[in-house]
Amino acid sequence: MEERASDEALERLLTSSGDNAARSGYVIRAVDVRKVYRMGDSETHALRGVTLDVHRGEYLSIMGPSGSGKSTFFNMIGGLDKPTAGKVYIDQVDIAQLDPYELAWLRCRKVGYVFQTFNLIQVMSCIENVMLPMAFAGRDSEEAREKAMEILDLVGLGDRALHKPAEMSGGQQQRVAIARALANSPDILLADEPTANLDLKTGKEIIDLFRRLRDKLGVTVISATHDLKMLKASDRIAWIDDGRLARLSTPAEVNIDVEEVH
Ligand SMILES: Nc1ncnc2c1ncn2[C@@H]1O[C@H](COP(=O)(O)OP(=O)(O)O)[C@@H](O)[C@H]1O
Ligand SMILES: [Mg+2]
Repeated sequence: MEERASDEALERLLTSSGDNAARSGYVIRAVDVRKVYRMGDSETHALRGVTLDVHRGEYLSIMGPSGSGKSTFFNMIGGLDKPTAGKVYIDQVDIAQLDPYELAWLRCRKVGYVFQTFNLIQVMSCIENVMLPMAFAGRDSEEAREKAMEILDLVGLGDRALHKPAEMSGGQQQRVAIARALANSPDILLADEPTANLDLKTGKEIIDLFRRLRDKLGVTVISATHDLKMLKASDRIAWIDDGRLARLSTPAEVNIDVEEVH
């Protein structure tokens, strides 16, 4: 039987630990990433060559209308799907080179995912939802419980640990989902339209929470949105239009007072 790389070896491969130059630079590099979906005779060019470097520890918003390719881009940089052409590097590792075991490791430890619809397991309590990825990572359950509690405190839900998702508001459920995404201390938090199902005030609380988590944990946050009101907390905005990177800007350069938009 083929011998598997140990977790330690994978850790070295995928975190470039000990390599300070790598750690201080870009956490993700997308180079001319293209994606074509083929269904029968029809082709959709979802990404038409996106090149984008993401700095370690930044909060990057991916902004674009519905259908512009945001989720497709997320799936590529999060190792959930493969580009038709182009390269994605995470910590300088070309993720196309990873075997299925290594990719699973990356998805479990390196990247935390947050979705529009929260995707919590309804029959489990908050704390059990947060412990789940730690169980996948082979963590001892007492240790996992302690860590889950710490993270729930961090997102302001320490007092709701035993509640089930259905007993919580949308904003609270999204905070549980964010806690779950942080369970295995990922370097990267990928959030695909995390505020789309929330009202304005709650949405703003969520983006402020991302900002705080970035400041406190140093995690790189990449968040897709089609809502101008959700750009303010980010350091940089990548504007995607019809599968292309149209421009990069800062929130200050956005030509609309994001506070005033209703
Ligand atoms: N799995 C898929 N199969 C076929 N077409 C897809 C698939 N996923 C997305 N698309 C198409 O690719 C384009 C970009 O979609 P998507 O990345 O979901 O955009 P966004 O997240 O910005 O709304 C759209 O035209 C969409 O219909
Ligand atoms: Mg989408």
